[in-house]
Amino acid sequence: MSSEHKIVDKLEEEKNLPDNDLTALIETDTFNASLFESADRVRKSVYGTDVYIRGLIEFTNYCKNNCYYCGIRCENNALSRYRLSQQEIINCCETGYKLGFRTFVLQGGEDNYYQDEILCAVISQIKAKYPDCAVTLSIGEKPYKSYKAYFKAGADRYLLRHETADDDHYKKLHPKDLSLQNRKECLWNLKEIGYQTGSGFMVGSPFQETGHLIKDIRFLQELKPEMIGIGPFISHSSTPFKDYKNGNLELTLRLISILRLMFPHVLIPATTALGTISPDGRELGLKAGANVVMPNLSPVHVRKQYALYDNKICTGEEAAECKGCLERRVNAAGYQMVISRGDYKRRIAL
Ligand code: SAM
Ligand code: FES
Repeated sequence: MSSEHKIVDKLEEEKNLPDNDLTALIETDTFNASLFESADRVRKSVYGTDVYIRGLIEFTNYCKNNCYYCGIRCENNALSRYRLSQQEIINCCETGYKLGFRTFVLQGGEDNYYQDEILCAVISQIKAKYPDCAVTLSIGEKPYKSYKAYFKAGADRYLLRHETADDDHYKKLHPKDLSLQNRKECLWNLKEIGYQTGSGFMVGSPFQETGHLIKDIRFLQELKPEMIGIGPFISHSSTPFKDYKNGNLELTLRLISILRLMFPHVLIPATTALGTISPDGRELGLKAGANVVMPNLSPVHVRKQYALYDNKICTGEEAAECKGCLERRVNAAGYQMVISRGDYKRRIAL
């Protein structure tokens, strides 16, 4: 057996590797087939060929933050801004429910217009109307009491990527008022409150090195999130990182497989960013171990304005078309979408 296969087998068996083996896996370009096969086997042993769907509602592109990589950062004056009303958000859920969605993801910039009372009212309205659905929030860093209030209102899950677990790297991607320490504290708070918590990072963000990726993986091992979202960095023409090159498809796929092998039960999306850097990126992501897709439920007239990066796909279609297109892709890759909340499957202690 080649040393490459041995490392992959060891990872599948032990769900962990020392740094030098992880570095080899991350940096190689020859491991792919055995790594992907192993990750797919593990994913099938937990989730079969099921793919969970999340209806993504991008409800505001206002943001008080100024992250250097992000297209909706507050200093991007070239962008026209929008906010969805409570009724518009509910209408998105109504469309989504009819299409078979049982999870709604409310995502947006950090927009203080939506005070806690407004958000709690939206969350409880969705939960009252659709008690069989999960609500996921992805609205950034908030005080403990706000997270607690959303949870009490019925929110089930929260997505907050840590972006990079290296302090110096974090400072190169964010302005001074944002810190890795606070981001991590938010994640620990979310876990403590009881959310199914998602973290993750961009692959190929400016200045990223293999050592940073290893730190990302080690932080995830500490946090033990229920969801891990990773996607390639893609440059946006109105940001300070406009001239940096995009993250790489193969590396993103390898990292999905590594994460699947280390966290067999975790929910991993095949992201829109992956589909943006390669036409079959999401199908490849599923084959590498991802088990979630997030079709867009936002009203078509606002889609282009939620431009986190250039050339974002799925900005022209109605929700039904978007879901139909993804369903064909999921089937072609050998999996099937299911009508389910798609919760994290806890390991059963024997
Ligand atoms: N404001 C919330 C937050 O901070 O978590 C949610 C919205 S934020 C735009 C969602 C994610 O988009 C970020 O966590 C980041 O990883 C990703 N993102 C932002 N700009 C990106 C870019 N240029 N390329 C790829 N992903 C990007
Ligand atoms: Fe706030 Fe990107 S800078 S969502």
